[in-house]
Amino acid sequence: MIKAGIIGGSGYTGGELIRILLHHPHATIDFVFSTTRAGKKISSAHPDLIGETEMEFTGEVNLHVDVVFLCLGHGNSTKFLNENNFSANTKIIDLSNDFRLAKDAVFNGREFVYGLPETNKEKIKKAKYIANPGCFATAVQLALLPLAKAGKLGNPVHINAITGSTGAGVSLAATSHFSWRTNNVSWYKPFTHQHLGEIEESLHALQSNTGELYFLPNRGNFTRGIFVTAYTHYNGSEAEANKLYKDFYADAVFTHVSDDPISLKQVVNTNQCHIHLHKHNNTLLITSAEDNLLKGASGQAVQNMNLMFGFEESTGLYLKSGVF
Ligand SMILES: NC(=O)c1ccc[n+]([C@@H]2O[C@H](COP(=O)([O-])OP(=O)(O)OC[C@H]3O[C@@H](n4cnc5c(N)ncnc54)[C@H](OP(=O)(O)O)[C@@H]3O)[C@@H](O)[C@H]2O)c1
Repeated sequence: MIKAGIIGGSGYTGGELIRILLHHPHATIDFVFSTTRAGKKISSAHPDLIGETEMEFTGEVNLHVDVVFLCLGHGNSTKFLNENNFSANTKIIDLSNDFRLAKDAVFNGREFVYGLPETNKEKIKKAKYIANPGCFATAVQLALLPLAKAGKLGNPVHINAITGSTGAGVSLAATSHFSWRTNNVSWYKPFTHQHLGEIEESLHALQSNTGELYFLPNRGNFTRGIFVTAYTHYNGSEAEANKLYKDFYADAVFTHVSDDPISLKQVVNTNQCHIHLHKHNNTLLITSAEDNLLKGASGQAVQNMNLMFGFEESTGLYLKSGVF
C-alpha cells in the first residue's frame, strides 16, 4: 500500500480524490490537509462520505508520504511547495496550472511532466512530479491531438465548449449562484481562456504549423461535465478520420471513439472521454465529452499515480456513470 496525502481536501477536486482513493486497492489516504476545517470530519465537507470514512481533516502535513496531490488554486501550489519541503521520495501530482507550461515545468529543481497519458505515458511512468492537465485542456486536446499527429489539423480551428458549475471550484461566485446559473447559459473569456497555452504547446509538439485556435468557453446549467464541439477544414473522408482517431487511441484505456453521436451524461461520473466525428462538405466536426472532475482532474490524477507507481492504469477508476 502506498500512502497518499491530499492538500485542499475540502474543495471539489480534493473531494473527488478522497472518493476514489478510499476504494483504491493499492493506496491509503494518510492525511487530508485543510486550512479551514482541521479537526472536522471529512464528511462535514463531503456529506456523501458519511459511513464511508471517519477520517478528519488535519492542519498537519506529513512530508514523507509516497504521493501528495495538490488540489489548490493557481499560484497556491507554488506557495505551498515553498512552505512545505516534501521528502525527495515523495511524488507530487499538481492539479493547478502552476507547472503545466514548458516555461514553468522546472520548479525548485523538480521537473514536472505534463500528465496526459494518451500522449505522455512513458514519461509519466518515469516521472516524480506531474502537472495534471486542465479540464477544458484535456477535452480539447483529446479532440484535436490525432489530427495534429497526422499533420492534418486545419487552420483555423473553432472550438466551442460548455462546462458545469463545479469547473469553477467550491467557492460561491455570482456566476455559480443558483438563481443566476439555473436555466441560464453564458460565455466567458472568449478566445483568451488560460488553458489555450497548454493546448497550443501539445498540438505544436505534434504539428509544427498549427494555426489559429478560436476557443469559446461557455457556462452551462448543470454541475458536472464538459462538452466540446470543434470544427476545422479536413480533406479526407469521415471513414479516414475515424480510422486515424481509432488508431491513435487504440491503447488508450479511457478515451474512446464512438460511431454514434455522443452526449454529456454518458461520461459524467466516469474517467472516460468519448469522441465522435462527423464530416460535412470540407469540414470535420469533432465532439468530445468528459467529466471535468474525473478525466478533467482527479480521475486523471489517479490514472497518473497508477502509471507512476507501476499499478494497472485503470486501478480504482472503473466508476459508474449517471447516464439516466
Ligand atoms: N474544478 C474542476 O473541474 C477542475 C478541473 C481541473 C483542474 N482544476 C484545478 O484544480 C485546482 C483545485 O480546483 P477545485 O475546483 O478543487 O478548487 P476549490 O473547490 O476551490 O478547492 C480548493 C481548496 O484549496 C484550499 N485552499 C484555498 N486556499 C488555499 C491556500 N492558500 N493554501 C492551501 N489551501 C488552500 C481550500 O480548502 P481548505 O479550506 O480545506 O483548505 C479550497 O477549498 C485548481 O487549480 C483548479 O483550477 C479544477
